[in-house]
Amino acid sequence: MIVLKVDNLIKDYPTGFLRKKVRVLKGVSFFVNRGEIFGFVGPNGAGKTTTFKAVLGFVGITGGSVSIMGRPAGDVSVKKHIGYLPENPYFYDYLTGEELLRYMGQLHGINGKALLKRIDELLEKVNMTHARKVQLRKYSKGMLQRIGIAQALINDPEFLILDEPMSGLDPIGQREIRELILEERKKGKTIILSSHILSDVETMCDRVGVIIGGRVVRTGELGELLEDIHTDYEMLLRDTDLEVVDRLGDLKVKVEKRAGFIVLRFDEDIKSRVIEVVSSLGADIVSLYPLRKSLEGLFVKEMGQNSGGEQKR
Ligand SMILES: Nc1ncnc2c1ncn2[C@@H]1O[C@H](COP(=O)(O)OP(=O)(O)OP(=O)(O)O)[C@@H](O)[C@H]1O
Ligand SMILES: [Mg+2]
Repeated sequence: MIVLKVDNLIKDYPTGFLRKKVRVLKGVSFFVNRGEIFGFVGPNGAGKTTTFKAVLGFVGITGGSVSIMGRPAGDVSVKKHIGYLPENPYFYDYLTGEELLRYMGQLHGINGKALLKRIDELLEKVNMTHARKVQLRKYSKGMLQRIGIAQALINDPEFLILDEPMSGLDPIGQREIRELILEERKKGKTIILSSHILSDVETMCDRVGVIIGGRVVRTGELGELLEDIHTDYEMLLRDTDLEVVDRLGDLKVKVEKRAGFIVLRFDEDIKSRVIEVVSSLGADIVSLYPLRKSLEGLFVKEMGQNSGGEQKR
């Protein structure tokens, strides 16, 4: 079952003195299945946050359509099933953490003992019990992020929209939030998250969408998406073989010194050429191995193909 379907979404923002319109989303299409974690990745300014805001009905859309659980964006009947972590969780900074959760809970119609219990649980979950009576304005970035995640979960939502959930968190915090998100999936919840931490997206997400310049250029399971990217290779040479580096000529090889070795990194296309050059000089190849294909590799490739001048302003 599809929880979110975004179809040819277009968003124009008026900008500047003359309110000239700039097309920020240029026909964004993707879907999110029930029970999956969908990772939304793309460079700064690609349109991730704008897409989320459009899905939530916080900004009007210029064209296309959004359907959440079969309803249009902003539909009141689906709001109670959605949890949202905004990119910059400022909130009302005169409130304490506990007051924020109470306020958000009440907005969702949760009251009394049920609310108190939920607040205690969530504060515990995001490790913020110690700061429950502290005003948000006195929170650190990571503390705001943690309370932001707690408020997104207050209504035990079916569908979570998390805009950069790991942002600002220390390594332990990142791990805790990763575990929390996986736990939500285990409970059958559906999650869409944006992140610049591609390793997190790789380990957590069932499907991934890559957005560049206001267009979703790829979507699918990570394994599928990685199939058609090239494998990089690394070759280790003794650092006494430095002359090899000069002889590589025009070959696209990245050279790095690492703990007594020279490391050459190159695409599989030129593997045999590199071996030829290195062998012809009688250099000692310590090892040659393929690097794991990664989302980062895909990201770089898609950026190379899709970030033409057209989307720059
Ligand atoms: N309120 C606004 N008015 C005008 N332009 C806007 C507005 N909000 C966003 N934009 C523009 O829309 C584009 C997409 O921004 P958006 O915040 O969606 O990107 P993003 O993918 O979330 O980036 P990041 O990774 O930096 O969070 C940017 O060019 C941005 O300048
Ligand atoms: Mg953003």
